[in-house]
Amino acid sequence: MTIRKDSKLAILILLFGRNWITLFGTGLTTSTAMMIVGFLTATMLGFETPPYLGILMLLIMPGFFVLGLLIIPIGIFWGKRKKAVAEGADAAHITINLRRPEVRGALGLITLLTGANLLIMALVSYRSVEYMDSTEFCGKTCHTVMKPEFTAHAVSPHSRVSCVECHIGPGAPWFVKAKISGVRQVFAVALHTYEHPIPTPVANLRPSRDTCEQCHWPQKFTGDRVKVVTEYTDDEKNTALKTALLMHIGGGELGTGGIHSWHIDPRRKTTYVTTDRQRQKIDLVRVTEADGTVTEYKADGKDLTPEQLATAETRIMDCIDCHNRPTHIYQMPGRALDDALHGGRIDASLPFVKKIAAEALTEAKGAEGDLELIDTKIRSFYQEKYKDVAAAKADKIDEAVREVQGIYSKNVFPDMSVTWGTYPNNIGHTVGENQSPGCFRCHDDSHVSADGKTIKQDCTMCHTVLAMQEENPAALQDLGLH
Ligand code: HEC
Ligand code: HEC
Ligand code: HEC
Ligand code: HEC
Ligand code: HEC
Repeated sequence: MTIRKDSKLAILILLFGRNWITLFGTGLTTSTAMMIVGFLTATMLGFETPPYLGILMLLIMPGFFVLGLLIIPIGIFWGKRKKAVAEGADAAHITINLRRPEVRGALGLITLLTGANLLIMALVSYRSVEYMDSTEFCGKTCHTVMKPEFTAHAVSPHSRVSCVECHIGPGAPWFVKAKISGVRQVFAVALHTYEHPIPTPVANLRPSRDTCEQCHWPQKFTGDRVKVVTEYTDDEKNTALKTALLMHIGGGELGTGGIHSWHIDPRRKTTYVTTDRQRQKIDLVRVTEADGTVTEYKADGKDLTPEQLATAETRIMDCIDCHNRPTHIYQMPGRALDDALHGGRIDASLPFVKKIAAEALTEAKGAEGDLELIDTKIRSFYQEKYKDVAAAKADKIDEAVREVQGIYSKNVFPDMSVTWGTYPNNIGHTVGENQSPGCFRCHDDSHVSADGKTIKQDCTMCHTVLAMQEENPAALQDLGLH
């Protein structure tokens, strides 16, 4: 085939193919564009792709794509300049003759290609932002590091809420802030300088009005709610005991009484001062009413020393001070086993199963071989003490072992030094189960104001205890609950 010297094709070859710089740029852009478009098509068709491929295709490849695009014109000018110098012309004056139709044609083609490139770029930018906001990206990219949070999130009431909806929220400034901190985190992971475990609370977490309150609005009235807790004792029969509470959650515009109506009333601001990194010990609570009245409650009536004040953190109380585990919910062995027994995932007719499983879990704190330890501990117990049960209910014992190992894997993460009780839960006050005094951090009757008022611990203020650890509570029978 011969190519006419002034055809568009010839001009294109002249522009793109005559020198190695342009050729390199063209090759780079074309190949990365093909890979990116291929990847986008695959994800749109619903193919599962490994997380690292996402980073490569949506964050790194676009860089090479743009680099290629920049190299092309550099090459063209370099080539023209070289040619001009070779022909003895003034290198500083390279002209493009727009009168020649083939030059105009080539320029038209270039414009078309640039348009296509811009379209690819727009699509890629959109997809990469979307991708970086996905739970998959946040949870799986740094694999080991985010494993505890990712695992707990996946089995929580918020498993369909993406990480960024709580951790970044809407708006450009926080988006940029998050990306900057993201870069720092990538380095920390690459250099292994991150903390084990990831510390809690999150420093500079966005206030809940911009995150939680995008979905839950404070004025929503939630009234009273019955909460039934089933516990299993560690006797042979694994006796189930019920505790029933009528939680006075409250809420609504008017402050009708209850937990929410007092605490999230917009006309009142609660600020607290703490010297504890985990905010578990609260030194001072300051309540500011709408009319400007301020009441300060001091722990044991004592002032903070100037040294304490220098390191103290002051914080406006919001949803997260009570609901600090709405999604990364870790359990202690006892409560996790109670749930599994109650849900029928562990057969409660296995003698002493609560006791032996709790012992196994308490012993398995994050050392190598923990899963085997759980297995042998449970099996050998039945083989030694209950031979007939071991034979008759072998499948139930298998099930129990798997479930107990599952509980372990959802709560203990040796690689991140996360074990039972690493992350306190502030929602209640049962220290053994939450690893936190929770509400009693303030409601302890010993945070005192100047006029002698305290933050109360009255047992009926937050809930009415309908039944407490009873086998067959009358209150639940009256309600028709089982
Ligand atoms: C429903 C809201 C919500 C969602 C969704 C969410 N988080 Fe969190 N996350 C929180 C809250 C609240 C805290 C605790 C904040 C505090 O106490 O300061 C937290 C804490 C963390 C911490 C610090 C360690 C800890 O447990 O306190 C990490 C790391 C984390 N989240 C990562 C993630 C990842 C990864 C995802 C997605 C897989 C995610 N989060 C999804 C609300 C959320
Ligand atoms: C994108 C929307 C969204 C955001 C953001 C969100 N939630 Fe939720 N939340 C929900 C939905 C939906 C449910 C109901 C889930 C269900 O019943 O399975 C829920 C349930 C809850 C519950 C009840 C859980 C239970 O055990 O039944 C609490 C408490 C809660 N959210 C607190 C929070 C807090 C605190 C934050 C902020 C850190 C937050 N939510 C952020 C949508 C959201
Ligand atoms: C003073 C502590 C505290 C604060 C602050 C607080 N809550 Fe709650 N919230 C509770 C308690 C306690 C419950 C009842 C939990 C239970 O029964 O398991 C609850 C229940 C809920 C529920 C479940 C309601 C239901 O009907 O099941 C949601 C949703 C919720 N809170 C959202 C929020 C949001 C959003 C905020 C911030 C605007 C907030 N809470 C602030 C303590 C608090
Ligand atoms: C940072 C301190 C702090 C924490 C933590 C805290 N509270 Fe409070 N709470 C207060 C203060 C201060 C008051 C107002 C006391 C007063 O003036 O009577 C209050 C008032 C209340 C009231 C209203 C009492 C009334 O007189 O009607 C309820 C209900 C309540 N809190 C529930 C809770 C629950 C439930 C939790 C835990 C999930 C909790 N609080 C955690 C500081 C706190
Ligand atoms: C400041 C509010 C508040 C006060 C005061 C309070 N509680 Fe509670 N209580 C709670 C909350 C919140 C929960 C947790 C509900 C949940 O698990 O979601 C709880 C849970 C409980 C439970 C169930 C524990 C479990 O196994 O989950 C019992 C029992 C209980 N409280 C008894 C008491 C008694 C007895 C008193 C009086 C000394 C008292 N409470 C005072 C807020 C309070």
